[in-house]
Amino acid sequence: MVRPFRWDSERRVLQLLDQRRLPFEKVWIECARADEVANAIRDMAIRGAPAIGIAAAYAVVLGFARGADSGTEAGRFDRLAAALLNTRPTAVNLRAALTRMRSRLESVLSAPAADLLGELEVEADRIAAEDLAANRRLGALGAGLLSPADRAARILTHCNAGSLATSGYGTALGIVRAIAESGRPVEVFAPETRPYLQGARLTAWELKEDGIPVTLVTDGMVGSLLAGARMDAVVVGADRIAANGDSANKIGTYQAAVLAKEHGVPFVVAAPFSSVDLETPTGAEIPIEQRDPEEIVKIAGTRIAPEGVRVWNPAFDVTPARYITAIVTERGVARPPFPASLGDLATLHA
Ligand code: MRU
Repeated sequence: MVRPFRWDSERRVLQLLDQRRLPFEKVWIECARADEVANAIRDMAIRGAPAIGIAAAYAVVLGFARGADSGTEAGRFDRLAAALLNTRPTAVNLRAALTRMRSRLESVLSAPAADLLGELEVEADRIAAEDLAANRRLGALGAGLLSPADRAARILTHCNAGSLATSGYGTALGIVRAIAESGRPVEVFAPETRPYLQGARLTAWELKEDGIPVTLVTDGMVGSLLAGARMDAVVVGADRIAANGDSANKIGTYQAAVLAKEHGVPFVVAAPFSSVDLETPTGAEIPIEQRDPEEIVKIAGTRIAPEGVRVWNPAFDVTPARYITAIVTERGVARPPFPASLGDLATLHA
């Protein structure tokens, strides 16, 4: 199981597995400064909601470790956080990680003898470790939802919500891994996920690395697959889950959810609780990132559309809560009505 980042504590540098080069090359890039991490997030060398939150936490450490800043520590943090928050607006995990780093900074500032850098580093390590533990826990809970059958469980996913998108293990693919680890056969159908091809490049690669059967399909095949191929569930990740259960995830998720409902296939969202944003009431308030038109008019650097064509390139869509069967988090499984069940999970563990 591959992890998308390595923190070198001795040299205080963050190494990122450059996901733009996968599946062809395994290249690690080194970030010694916060702005290098911000660029890596914006350019999608690292991607996936939990992974970018973790990278941002380490970027704060780098921002305090290097570079002059004449202002106060709090001011320095605010400038770092603003630059990092600006990179990708949809995943709430980024904001959640920065909120934690800010609280840790405040507690250090109120204890003058404390080792500021050491404490920030401990907090970033903790965010990373907690994400891994959350993935394993929600993976086990999600695996329990899929009852054993006389054949391999068939799961349709979307994008990459795997070890590459998290601290390791994955959310949607964490459920797949947990089924496999329990000794039950499982197979995954992975839509290629235009335009960035996370399904073709990343999900297919990481499942093959783990020896889990995976079948690649194009995004346009999802309807036929759900109509005819006896899928046991659609399992996807999330970038932000609103208080009413509406869930933002990679563009193309919404159509899979509508089709799943039409064909009676359970639609499951798998995410750490850090992806739940109770301050955002509904999906309508979730900011949706718009990306460069170049991602659509070119594939692997080759132009496939006429020069000057107009392009619409939202990176995410919102699946309304009414299409969602269950939201699996490390705190438990939320079921409709989600305002109550997500609220319960939040207060139970407050
Ligand atoms: O644009 P990306 O690749 O960052 O989008 C990723 C997704 O949509 C994932 O499904 C989501 O972040 C959950 S990852 C556990």
